[in-house]
Amino acid sequence: MTQPDFRTPELDDLARRIIPEQHFEFPTETARDRFFADTRMLDVKQRVHNAYRTNPRSMVDHMIGNLQLTGKEDLLDLGCGNGFILEHLRPHLADGTITGLDNAPAVLDAARRRLQGTATPCTWIESSADELTMLGDDTFDRVMANYMIHYVPDLDRCFAGVRRVMRPGGTFQLTTDRPDSMLEMYDVHFQALRALAAPDDLFKATPKGRLSLETGAAQLEQHFEHVEKVTWQDQLRFTDPEPFMEFYEVGHNHCCASSVPDSRLDDTFYAQLRDLVKAEVVRRINADGHFSVTKFTGSFLCR
Ligand SMILES: C[S@@+](CC[C@H](N)C(=O)[O-])C[C@H]1O[C@@H](n2cnc3c(N)ncnc32)[C@H](O)[C@@H]1O
Repeated sequence: MTQPDFRTPELDDLARRIIPEQHFEFPTETARDRFFADTRMLDVKQRVHNAYRTNPRSMVDHMIGNLQLTGKEDLLDLGCGNGFILEHLRPHLADGTITGLDNAPAVLDAARRRLQGTATPCTWIESSADELTMLGDDTFDRVMANYMIHYVPDLDRCFAGVRRVMRPGGTFQLTTDRPDSMLEMYDVHFQALRALAAPDDLFKATPKGRLSLETGAAQLEQHFEHVEKVTWQDQLRFTDPEPFMEFYEVGHNHCCASSVPDSRLDDTFYAQLRDLVKAEVVRRINADGHFSVTKFTGSFLCR
């Protein structure tokens, strides 16, 4: 199936101008205790990504296709979150098994409830993805790590663990973003930060710098013989500012600006930030008919 291509010279130029070299980095505990202490962030992101996409094929269907399932595989999902992807994938594993692993108990519990009573036997493990010693050698035909690897403290230990638990002939799918993914969101965000004379340390890119779609192959090749990159694009289009604002505030935590409690930045700062971002989104909707957010994402398929 031909994929849409949303790249333009203007977007490439914008990316060069606005995506900072420095990226946010969070301890895995911040993710567990703030972002994923409940399912709200994931629920908002998943709903908005799906409802406002313009690529007719969803990213989830694309990822499931990459796995080339026969229906009988044993699959391990690292950082399974609230089970959104597993719910869609499960019918493709009617005679297989699913093991979901996450270090945040609230989202793991949501995944458990989501798949409860289905035909596919499921096992749920609360652990960090770099601590897989509870799993036996050669246990899984497929392993996935979707949009979570930037939180894992020890990447080499994680990949060595995946290699060990994966059967010969298996596939490890690691899905992540290019650093300039969703750059229009960063553009309106940085513009508003500048207008507020925000501190320099808020001008950082998504926390994907440790392993992005651009840099990941070299790290993975140290553990896997074959590493193939399969890219994926989409463009979210908003004709109403509110769903975008929820995506920006709740789903992306003001582009990570409010990720760490900061005594310098009070509620008034974030209210002003929100107002400025919204005003610019409204201006673009009025000028262009919609506000676009372009996604440059994809998967490494490791064998
Ligand atoms: C952005 S969500 C992605 C969820 C799911 N894979 C998806 O794509 O919908 C990141 C997930 O990784 C989990 N996570 C963060 N650090 C982790 C770690 N060290 N080990 C396992 N899971 C982790 C979070 O709790 C969260 O559920």
